[in-house]
Amino acid sequence: MTERIVQTIRTVPQLREEIAGRRAAGATVGFVPTMGALHAGHSALIERAASEHEVVVVSIFVNPAQFNRADDLEQYPRNEPADVKAATAAGATICFAPSVAEIYPQGFASSVQVRGPLTETLEGKERGVGHFDGMATVVTVLLNAVAPDVAYFGAKDAQQALVVRRFVTDLQIPVEIVTADTVRDANGLALSSRNARLSAGGIEQALAISAALQAAANAISDGSTDSPEAAGAAGIERLRLAGITPEYFAITDPATLEPARQLSGTLLIACAATVDGVRLIDNLTVSANREAATASC
Ligand code: PAF
Repeated sequence: MTERIVQTIRTVPQLREEIAGRRAAGATVGFVPTMGALHAGHSALIERAASEHEVVVVSIFVNPAQFNRADDLEQYPRNEPADVKAATAAGATICFAPSVAEIYPQGFASSVQVRGPLTETLEGKERGVGHFDGMATVVTVLLNAVAPDVAYFGAKDAQQALVVRRFVTDLQIPVEIVTADTVRDANGLALSSRNARLSAGGIEQALAISAALQAAANAISDGSTDSPEAAGAAGIERLRLAGITPEYFAITDPATLEPARQLSGTLLIACAATVDGVRLIDNLTVSANREAATASC
């Protein structure tokens, strides 16, 4: 039996033509944008899209405009044949792997910018707001190229998903945005393309990130703490024991990402830290309503 490998399209006109043909035959279109280095988290997004649409487009494009460090861009893992294989296995029908010149042709001079606390806090503060400008610009270009019914993003990049929802609403882009749960390994480590760069010791150390988020969530949900600061301190202490100093460890409002003033309602606990030379992010949502407290890691 020959292995099914989906078609890889490299240009926007070809992509539009292919999708138009399938739409004419009655298909709806799901879209999973990626920067490649696909892992089980991407596969879960593609599988979900495939369960809801006849056509699933997976883009594979390492977007230079959203990296604030040249070495980070250079070291970003790239393996297109493996990505196309993984996307196919998860149910993709089209892979779109454009060149940098296809997305940013000569003379490209536009930018999509979301301003306010949503992009100035957490990742925006650490990586610079230019990271989100680059992400928002490429996602807008990709949404225009694919014109999907639904686009799927992972909750691990919670701030990215909020920023995408913001500009899709503001720019009236006709697409539904789905944010799907973070996929974790058996030990709780959030799956990330960057994990491929961790040594065995680094993976062990990185487990402290999800453990720290859980420690803060437990402190909130079991009532052992009564302020966001104290809950944050519980998480930071867990990281300290593993030898990790976070870039941020924040208890926030999940809609605005502003610091939580009190322990009530649903809260988003977010963390970024460099482990083994690799910058990792993770987050967890917790209900601070004591009578119905649950943490979803
Ligand atoms: O989450 C990512 O992999 C990227 O930020 C995205 C959405 C593919 C845009 O480059």
